[in-house]
Amino acid sequence: MITIGIESSCDETSVALLNNETILANAIYSQTEHRDFGGVVPEVASRAHLEKIDRLAQSCFTRTKITPGKVDLIAVTDSPGLAGALLVGISFALGLHTAWNIPITGVNHLEGHICSVFFENSSVAFPFLALVVSGGHTSLYRVDSLDTFICLGETVDDAAGEAFDKVGKLLGFPYPAGRFIEEEAARFSGDTRQCPSFSVARCSQGKLHFSFSGLKTAVKYFIDGKDPLEVARQRPALCNAFQQAVIDSLVGNARHAAQQNGIDRIVLVGGVACNNRLRETLHRQFPGTVFTPHNSLCTDNAAMIALAGFRRYQRNKLRRPAMSASRVL
Ligand code: KG4
Ligand code: ZN
Repeated sequence: MITIGIESSCDETSVALLNNETILANAIYSQTEHRDFGGVVPEVASRAHLEKIDRLAQSCFTRTKITPGKVDLIAVTDSPGLAGALLVGISFALGLHTAWNIPITGVNHLEGHICSVFFENSSVAFPFLALVVSGGHTSLYRVDSLDTFICLGETVDDAAGEAFDKVGKLLGFPYPAGRFIEEEAARFSGDTRQCPSFSVARCSQGKLHFSFSGLKTAVKYFIDGKDPLEVARQRPALCNAFQQAVIDSLVGNARHAAQQNGIDRIVLVGGVACNNRLRETLHRQFPGTVFTPHNSLCTDNAAMIALAGFRRYQRNKLRRPAMSASRVL
């Protein structure tokens, strides 16, 4: 069965073709239009999606030699995301739905991220924990089935990736800054006496919430008023300390979730899951098995949306695309 996936929720425009759960094509355009702004500009994102989406779809058909008549199902991200950006993907998908007269389903972007783990581990047993860490989301779920996601905690302010991007901007890295901070942290010599130490606010009240905006402010106060040359000298130590604080918070809550729920499986997904130090720390400290997709499937892509749509089809759970304001599943 051939599924076409469409993703346009933020700053990646992507179209993919899947044969059941095998990726045939996964065309991704990461918008460079936002570089000068240091963050995603919604109106610019919508226009860039509009300019690229049909060419990306065309390239998938050309590359795979599959003709549109062979496609059986359309899966499109319909929430959460930037309204104008989502509308581009949804309108494109609904146009194909009308023209081709085949089934369509909306897919929640976070459901897509969680499903990205199935490409390499198709039968992770339920229930499992899911730590979704990206530029727009930081949420911890208990996944009892693909129809039952229980939110155990989420960020009360910035997402983890957003914190990487904002701290990156303070330290002069281009957007998105996660990868650059990781590389700079790896240059840290390891002498912790030279390393500032940052902590992350703990959110109690029963839930395993996260908070990263105070961490960003702490980095800002640390560098404010300092000689730029001195800041540049300390940059590897700063990046290391910041990255460690984010990782401690993420891994700490994942461990608590495992204990509280008696679950020893976790999937780590979303753009921040590309971070090697995070992967290694979770593997080392999580009391059980950790599943992570390949890096190329951690950041936004349409293959994960197609797979989530295909699994909806198998469960007889197709639904008309509909935008929702909720940031969680
Ligand atoms: O999942 P994604 O592509 O988009 C959203 O759904 O938000 O995630 C993008 C985020 C960006 O904030 C980027 O800085 C972060 O993932 N990221 C990383 C790394 N690679 C990407 N953060 C930390 N370390 C990395 N290696
Ligand atoms: Zn995402």
